[in-house]
Parts: sequence; structure tokens; C-alpha cells
Amino acid sequence: MGDDLTVTGDGGDQNAAIWKSAAIVGEWRSNAEERERRRAVGLQLLAELLPFRADQPFTFADLGAGTGAAARAVLERHSQATAVLADFSPQMMGEGVEQLRPYEGRYRYVEFDLAAGAWPEAVPPVLDAVVTAFFVHHLPDERKAALFGEILDRLRPGGWFVNLDPTRAVEPLVEDTWTRMNDRLDPEAAERRAHRTPAEQARWENHVRYLAPVAPQLEALARAGFEGVDVYWRHLENVLYAGRRPVA
Ligand SMILES: C[S@@+](CC[C@H](N)C(=O)[O-])C[C@H]1O[C@@H](n2cnc3c(N)ncnc32)[C@H](O)[C@@H]1O
Repeated sequence: MGDDLTVTGDGGDQNAAIWKSAAIVGEWRSNAEERERRRAVGLQLLAELLPFRADQPFTFADLGAGTGAAARAVLERHSQATAVLADFSPQMMGEGVEQLRPYEGRYRYVEFDLAAGAWPEAVPPVLDAVVTAFFVHHLPDERKAALFGEILDRLRPGGWFVNLDPTRAVEPLVEDTWTRMNDRLDPEAAERRAHRTPAEQARWENHVRYLAPVAPQLEALARAGFEGVDVYWRHLENVLYAGRRPVA
């Protein structure tokens, strides 16, 4: 389904078409090294936030896993962990199999449209932890809140949900400041912004469509029943927030 000819800006929600586009997944692959370098600290902290010893066995899910950046960070740090990676894009999962080769036998992919809500049987009914990276912002706010509840239901008591995600600024000044500081780290960004192809424009619109400020997301986590809800790290718009299912 989908290729870059069908994906152009201003066409409403094209999230599925974008992530199932071979061209866009090819572009994702070609930028992988630079992207993972920029995200390394956040992903490492995501893995470190999980309260397991490095040699302790546990099972976790990575939702909207794509090529498995978050899962790989956890599998690398926790040598006895096993992962269930959920995504709706066969293209992203196909790409992920290549990158997950060092962890063969310790992970499996499950095809799952997380906008829909019905969890496939292939996801274990009880999980020790759930992680997500750069995925939750693709869901409308109501679905974000519902998903937080579904994650809580799947977690064993005491299990953590950790999310690394971009957020929306609540003031134009904050957004301008994030942009200015990001541009210092990537001097070609302003030029790229000014000359997006239609496919790049569509991807940008898809990126920001459901981007939400961090505060209501923390409130939604607390409403769903999580405890210890906080922002544990942030870099400009990218925020690592987490919460735990109460022990009793
Ligand atoms: C920005 S990528 C992030 C991938 C990966 N978590 C990472 O950090 O590199 C977003 C991922 O979410 C997946 N995705 C988007 N909407 C989805 C949905 N409704 N159900 C399942 N996966 C979805 C896409 O296929 C893509 O792999």
C-alpha cells in the first residue's frame, strides 16, 4: 500500500499511507545513522529507567516499534530481556529485521494497528514493561488516552510504561526557541524546511498533526491510573515521560 506519489501534503490523516510507503521507509533507512546518533541519549535513558538488573529476565513490548530503536536500546542493556515489537507497517518491520539481527531469538514482531484498539492475541496478556519511542504523537488525543489505559491493563503490578516522544510547545516563543536551538545543532535544517518536496511536506504534516503538549499527556497517564508519572528527561521538544502501574 502507498508510495510517495500518493503521499502529498494537505490530504488529511495519511499516517498509514506514509508509514506503509516503500519510498518513505527507504528514506527512513538512509537517515538511520544520523537519527540514532541524535536520539542516543534519550533511548539509553529510556532503557535505564526500567527498574531491572542488567541480567534479569523480563518481557516488554515496544509499541509503534518501527525498526526497533527503543527495543534495541532495552535489549542491549538487559541481556535476558525479550521483546514484542508492535507496528502496523510491514515495510518498517521488514527493515527492522535487518537491524535486530544481533538480538535474534530475543524478539518477535506483531502486526498491530494501534489506532484501532483491539490487541492481537500474539501480544502477551501480561507484560513486565511497555516502551514507546516517537510513536504516541501519531495518535489523536482521545486515542492516546485510551491507549494509556490499555497499556496499564496489560502491565503487571509495578510495571513501567516509558515513552520518548516529541511534544507541542504551548507558546510560540517556546516553539521559536526550540527551532532556533535545533537549527544550531543542524545548520542545514532551515534550508530543508524552506524547500520540502510534497512527500516531505506530507511527512511533516503527519508528524505535527496530533502532536500534543506534555502536560495533558501526563494528566491522561495519571487519570488512566499510573503512579510516579513525571518527565524524567527532556531535550527541547523531545520528552521522556513515564509512569508505573501501582503495585497493589
Ligand atoms: C516515527 S516512527 C518511530 C519508530 C520507532 N519507534 C523509532 O523510534 O525509531 C513511527 C512508527 O510508528 C508506526 N505507527 C504509526 N501509526 C501506527 C499505528 N496506528 N499502529 C501501529 N504502528 C503505527 C509507524 O509504522 C512507524 O514505524
